[in-house]
Amino acid sequence: MARPYIEFIQTQNVDWAVQPDGTEIKRLNVDPDDGEETYLLRYPAGFDAPDHGPEDRAEEYLVLDGSIAVDGREQRYHCYGFTPRGESAGSRRMRDGATLIVFRYGRHDPNSATGMTDAIALDPVSIPWDMSPSVAHIAHLRLARKVLRLGPNDSSRTFLLIGLPHGVPAQAEMPAEIHDHFEEMFMLQGQMWTPEGLIRPGAYFYRPPEIIHGPHVSEAGFFQIMRAGANYVRTKWTHPMPLPIGQSYAPKIPSGTPESWVREWSGTAPY
Ligand SMILES: [Fe+2]
Repeated sequence: MARPYIEFIQTQNVDWAVQPDGTEIKRLNVDPDDGEETYLLRYPAGFDAPDHGPEDRAEEYLVLDGSIAVDGREQRYHCYGFTPRGESAGSRRMRDGATLIVFRYGRHDPNSATGMTDAIALDPVSIPWDMSPSVAHIAHLRLARKVLRLGPNDSSRTFLLIGLPHGVPAQAEMPAEIHDHFEEMFMLQGQMWTPEGLIRPGAYFYRPPEIIHGPHVSEAGFFQIMRAGANYVRTKWTHPMPLPIGQSYAPKIPSGTPESWVREWSGTAPY
């Protein structure tokens, strides 16, 4: 069984579940067979756990808020880490608490195992944005990227992606995209119009290969963390389709998704 297609939910609608160790979790998307999954994890203030030994699945995270000491190394706002399967992820100590988005790779994924790939701990603030121009079909988004990790054997890419405000093309139609690899996204800031509705901060999707998606436009600009199942996103383009500005919320969700996950979310009032 593969990971299900979900595009998109606002994670504000998902309830926190308390775990035996005192952390809280929002489990967003899971492959029940191989254990590949994505979740939000909230550590309470004062949390203190020793190293648990070798990980059974690679762990990748971005700190969304707060601060966490991983093996004594202070990881704060948007710090990033990756631990290969078979290596120790280190102790976790918290003074004030922290919230992370965590990506777990599959138990049998060869490209996230020790010996095949290295552990990473970095502060993306120190990485320059790659502002190379994008292909014409998405040039209107004015994108820039920071690559956090490239998996071996062209297996994956994890990156931060921003688009400038007023990312709207002059024409009324643009092609949609198709990839032969998965894409996954969590929205950190901003907004993006999609055929599934308006993505706001806290939005999440997991998109398996060969799903037609887009076109996308962003009046407000956006900042997101993305993962793809290749080192460089490979795209086939469809015929032109209408821009989704004003599209009402129309999520694609797997059967069994709680109804509460797909409530309309209009965000908190900015003023
Ligand atoms: Fe895409």
